[in-house]
Amino acid sequence: MAILPVLVTPNPILRRKATLVSVVDVHIKKLLKDLEETMVAEDGIGLAAPQVGVSKRVLVMDVPANMTIDGEEMEGVDADQNLYRMVNPEIIWVSDELSTCQEGCLSVPGQYASVTRPEKVRIRYLNEKGIVCETEFNHLQAACVQHEMDHLDGKLFVDYLSSMKREILLRKAQRVER
Ligand code: NI
Repeated sequence: MAILPVLVTPNPILRRKATLVSVVDVHIKKLLKDLEETMVAEDGIGLAAPQVGVSKRVLVMDVPANMTIDGEEMEGVDADQNLYRMVNPEIIWVSDELSTCQEGCLSVPGQYASVTRPEKVRIRYLNEKGIVCETEFNHLQAACVQHEMDHLDGKLFVDYLSSMKREILLRKAQRVER
């Protein structure tokens, strides 16, 4: 495994649409491990392959299932399944209910903003064994998986803001020392 450098805005790779993975082979398995190790090293809750310069539809996330969007722990929710490794994830259902979460991104260092997204989503993806899985996410996991999937389409959380606010945050992010 390896810790990879995380690209920051305005790197053009972050704005590219990532390509589908044809087969979950040893290279993709290594990429998943490297993403996981880099996410842990950077103290992130999710990381998408384009953020380490690999324009493929691959992501990892590690958010406790019992975590609300405000980062509070909920009682009575199983927190065991936290780490997800996803290849070619697709959104197959979203709830009508929306929820607003304070988001940040390793590729937009030091900047945070409220983003409103569907509260629940159902995702179909291949896991690290290449098996098709379907999982419904809510709370902070739902916000995180949608944020990471945006990276696969070259989209950053600041794109949900007004153009003026977006420009301010992107400019500030470029001045942050990493
Ligand atoms: Ni991000």
